[in-house]
Amino acid sequence: MLEFNELFDQWAPVYDQTVFNRDNEYNEVFENYDLLLKEICQQIRDKKIGLTLEIGVGTGNLSKELLKEGFSVIGIEPSDEMRRLAKEKLPNLAILDGHFLSIPIIEKFDSIVTSYAFHHLTYTEKRDSLKYLDGFLKKNGKIIIADTMFESEEYKSNLLKYVAESKAHNLLNDLNTEYYEYTEEILRLFDELDYTYTIKKMNKYVWMIIAEK
Ligand SMILES: C[S@@+](CC[C@H](N)C(=O)[O-])C[C@H]1O[C@@H](n2cnc3c(N)ncnc32)[C@H](O)[C@@H]1O
Repeated sequence: MLEFNELFDQWAPVYDQTVFNRDNEYNEVFENYDLLLKEICQQIRDKKIGLTLEIGVGTGNLSKELLKEGFSVIGIEPSDEMRRLAKEKLPNLAILDGHFLSIPIIEKFDSIVTSYAFHHLTYTEKRDSLKYLDGFLKKNGKIIIADTMFESEEYKSNLLKYVAESKAHNLLNDLNTEYYEYTEEILRLFDELDYTYTIKKMNKYVWMIIAEK
């Protein structure tokens, strides 16, 4: 479940450089990053400004946007270093050590959001996690997952070819070794829980799933 923790402790000090300066091989993965954070706020604002749980907070960029919009936020982050930096950036953010299958708080949320983090779970863990998170969501609440996903086998194979030709070796390694799914596989998990959903493409890699209970 937490096999990437050490990697994130190491990445933490330069994480914001990766996502905002975008002068590296992950450039296109983080294309429209700012817009994506704002879109998540927009998607959960349509009902009311409520209590939001963010999982995999990283350095706190989405939480920052949520707080700016007036949401009450509880953040969950397993990497000590990421938690430390998020706390430094957002001293008022309630941020707890935990992960997708361990939320150390008894509360019901209006929305649960996560960006660029769900792919660290295997498919079975993803299923277990969504069932688990369902217990923390109020009726009519929303779960939003923004992450790299593939819309088809053909798309995936063309994308991997493109990444290999671009000589983005680290990105290629990530795409081959982390647990990226096809969009329909994640949507199937929401079908199993009887959620309704819409889905939106954010860039060449990333999709946003907006699921409602
Ligand atoms: C690529 S960063 C994304 C950070 C932030 N959400 C953003 O959009 O910039 C992935 C984050 O997910 C966290 N993470 C990794 N495995 C996790 C897990 N099993 N449960 C919760 N968070 C996890 C990492 O520690 C890291 O902070």
